[in-house]
Amino acid sequence: MFRIVYISSASKYFDISEIETMLERARPKNHALGITGMLLYKDGNFLQCLEGEEAAVTKLANTISQDPRHSEILVLMRGPAERRLFPGMPMGFHDLTKEPLIKHSGFAEFIDSPLIRATFSLDPSRSLNLLSLFSPQP
Ligand SMILES: Cc1cc2nc3c(=O)[nH]c(=O)nc-3n(C[C@H](O)[C@H](O)[C@H](O)COP(=O)(O)O)c2cc1C
Repeated sequence: MFRIVYISSASKYFDISEIETMLERARPKNHALGITGMLLYKDGNFLQCLEGEEAAVTKLANTISQDPRHSEILVLMRGPAERRLFPGMPMGFHDLTKEPLIKHSGFAEFIDSPLIRATFSLDPSRSLNLLSLFSPQP
């Protein structure tokens, strides 16, 4: 098992339906590649977790990094993981702009914190803590 977590900035204002459409195409591809994960979106920034076999995850991350729909990609975590955080989920999605984390009790640390580099680059494990909130098996 291998995991990559990155943060990036959307190149333009995204209508959430555009992200959903993009994911509808992505999910069958991820499923075929044995890749699972989670995409979070907030105020123009993405945080994505990709997990699966190292070769497949690396290749997909490269493809995604060249996608003009986002830029300023910063890889926060890249390495082996004991198990999947998102088993059975070819790519989950949460729009945190509409769904404040206050709904998720016990995680005051993240309330209103923007998905910005400064929040995570000093302590990348925070990105995993945030992603774990959405894991069916944290
Ligand atoms: C933020 C973001 C996340 C993405 N996540 C995925 C993903 O998990 N899986 C995927 O196949 N494509 C994803 N894409 C789309 C890829 O960059 C690329 O467009 C797609 O894989 C092309 O697939 P195709 O040429 O086989 O249709 C993502 C794009 C963006 C901007």
